[in-house]
Amino acid sequence: MTIIAPSILSADFGNLAADIEAVTAAGADWIHIDVMDGHYVPPITIGAGVVKALRPIVAVPYDVHLMVSNPDNHIKDFAQAGADIITVHAEAGTHLHRTVQAIHEHGKKAGVALNPATPVAQLSKIIEDIELILIMTVNPGWGGQAYIDSMTAKIAETKTLIQSSGKDIYLEVDGGINEVTAQTVKTAGANVLVAGNYIFSKRQDYSSQIKSLR
Ligand code: DX5
Ligand code: ZN
Repeated sequence: MTIIAPSILSADFGNLAADIEAVTAAGADWIHIDVMDGHYVPPITIGAGVVKALRPIVAVPYDVHLMVSNPDNHIKDFAQAGADIITVHAEAGTHLHRTVQAIHEHGKKAGVALNPATPVAQLSKIIEDIELILIMTVNPGWGGQAYIDSMTAKIAETKTLIQSSGKDIYLEVDGGINEVTAQTVKTAGANVLVAGNYIFSKRQDYSSQIKSLR
């Protein structure tokens, strides 16, 4: 089964609660929340206070993608705000294993994200300890960018690594997902698809957008 995780980065920031409700009613499995700090990536987006305020809206898992430097400083706040999965970038901190431990100490699932230029080999010593791998299929920072074609082989390589680990690990992709690239990434082995612009740009019909990704 493919999990569809709409990224609220492309939702209406003036009506986030309504958009989260609507997209969940339309079939979203998870809500993907893009946290940017203005340092690891240029924009500043959503903080833990906003996640906390949005938490009661729906019951589906909140998938928090931290695009922040020094993620250790923020784990506790997002865990207490109600994140279910916390994903950090392998490139963002100094002691990735310790960061993953901190996420687990708060009772949350831990994900590790890789930027397009970061090799899959970066995962080899952490894969035993995580529940999710996020392959960025664009460079992080903005919604609405085009899927980077060379990421298809990287997704397949990651799938092979997951299989050889013998663990049941989510393989999530993020960036440039639409009805065409969705098929490409699923064939390569992805089972969690983040989509922002593709879903939220069709304000009237979230349901058919979500269905077209499955
Ligand atoms: C990019 C974010 C993504 C992004 C997805 O930095 O992590 O979640 O918003 O956007 P689309 O689906 O619009 O490419
Ligand atoms: Zn994201």
